[in-house]
Amino acid sequence: MTAARDRKVSPADIFSELPAGSLRVLQITDTHLYADAKKRLAGLATDHSLCQLLQLAQTKILPVDLALVTGDLVHDASASGYQRLKQHLLTLNTQAYCIPGNHDLNPVMRNNIQCDSISTDTVSRHGNWVLIMLDSTIPGKVEGQLSKEQLQLLSSGLEEHKDYHALVSLHHHPIPLGSAWIDNVALKNPDDLFSILDQHKHVRGLLWGHAHQLYDGERNGVKLMGSPSTCIQFKPHQDDFGIHQSPPGLRWLALLPEGKIMSDVEYLKDTPSGLDLGSVGY
Ligand SMILES: [Fe+2]
Repeated sequence: MTAARDRKVSPADIFSELPAGSLRVLQITDTHLYADAKKRLAGLATDHSLCQLLQLAQTKILPVDLALVTGDLVHDASASGYQRLKQHLLTLNTQAYCIPGNHDLNPVMRNNIQCDSISTDTVSRHGNWVLIMLDSTIPGKVEGQLSKEQLQLLSSGLEEHKDYHALVSLHHHPIPLGSAWIDNVALKNPDDLFSILDQHKHVRGLLWGHAHQLYDGERNGVKLMGSPSTCIQFKPHQDDFGIHQSPPGLRWLALLPEGKIMSDVEYLKDTPSGLDLGSVGY
């Protein structure tokens, strides 16, 4: 086996060979920044790990057409945390779309992150694709739920864009992951979500964060994608909370004009120093 065959092809190489009309997308999730840029979550400096991943993106992934930021942006929901995240996102030189997670405060997020290139819009069109970003948060709760209003936005967004391929994003995972503690704080009404998706054959992908772990699957022809956090990862397939030693990561997606999705994740090479593997909560 040659070294060339062993070498992993970078997302940027894959992006450079996509057919015309493809969309190059970066997903960033669960950044958990704080007002204090040096503050650590389970021993890991969240601002630093995000900066390292943005550097990795500069060398291996960028440029992209879009960035999707899928919740738990700022752990303490501080205005200054969102303002700092905004500066980080602007370095990507692309249009970003943000949805809140259970740690976020939606009004504070909107007021401090929105600008010409960072949006909190629910529905946007790009080439042959419609992107639908749903708010699955319940104020004051860790678990998620899609409200009647959000379900209506999903339904109308899909109805009005039947000629487009659809990628739907939300913060909370809509399927059980086989880990009791995180499944207790999953999306509480997945049947409401899936009953709408099942009525629309142009839905191609469903994307989430929240679980701080990789998931790749498929349901009724829809690609299911859960993504690692840009900071700490949770131990999968374990009923009690646990921190996994896996390094911070992010996901890239290629949305092809005929509706196919190519996607994978990239991790930092090393787990950052200080990670507290014995942490019993976050
Ligand atoms: Fe999170």
